[in-house]
Amino acid sequence: MIALRFDDLKQYSDVLRSRNGSAVTVRFIEPRDAEELQNYFRSLSTRSRYNRFLGAMSELPQNVLDHFIHVGERDEFSVVATMKIDGFETIVGEARYAFHAGTESLEFGLSIDDRWQGQGIGAALLKNLECRAAAFGAERLVGDTLRSNDAMIGLARKSGYSFAPNSDDWKLVRFEKHIDIAPKDIPCASWRLAAASRHLATVPLAG
Ligand SMILES: CC(C)(COP(=O)(O)OP(=O)(O)OC[C@H]1O[C@@H](n2cnc3c(N)ncnc32)[C@H](O)[C@@H]1OP(=O)(O)O)[C@@H](O)C(=O)NCCC(=O)NCCS
Repeated sequence: MIALRFDDLKQYSDVLRSRNGSAVTVRFIEPRDAEELQNYFRSLSTRSRYNRFLGAMSELPQNVLDHFIHVGERDEFSVVATMKIDGFETIVGEARYAFHAGTESLEFGLSIDDRWQGQGIGAALLKNLECRAAAFGAERLVGDTLRSNDAMIGLARKSGYSFAPNSDDWKLVRFEKHIDIAPKDIPCASWRLAAASRHLATVPLAG
């Protein structure tokens, strides 16, 4: 179990770089982000939303939005990738991941704003998720995507994932990667901190 300080989630932020060197901050979603997050999903192209949620969805249903903004419940977490655009911190991507202790795996899904796709942000965010998974002590990262989703399959392939059919749904393909980062080498600053604070933090995430 990892415990986080919910009164100061900002300390678990990381700064990544897009392909052209622009700063992209990855941080946990907070309740104040609810409206902007919903607007982010509404503004995705129909195709991106379909690919993200494996089916048609115009916006997040309220109960799903509630899960998104309450990080840590049931070992499920949501992060946003933000950039300073015209002076405002703006959501340009998001990821949601769940730690499954039984299989020591971290399962995830992610999206990048259509206007910011193709600039290396998805690859950087995926790398950051690998780090977060390592901090949990997870051995594998896993995800499912539609067989028709060339972008996600291309991203996973380039990031070193292997592929297998999804036994429950023929329309999906499962991608998976073994994590070989030793806990002491965890490269994301935020999650070194989180891992180190396991026994010190005040609010437990689960259990
Ligand atoms: C999949 C997704 C997250 C990729 O993010 P991105 O920021 O555009 O990807 P990047 O720019 O980091 O690309 C990294 C690599 O992914 C692959 N890739 C990205 N877009 C691709 C495309 N349209 N077709 C094929 N490969 C693609 C390439 O190998 C690319 O490396 P390269 O540019 O050096 O060739 C983005 O397309 C997206 O949000 N799609 C909609 C939501 C979705 O499908 N989510 C996945 C559900 S699990």
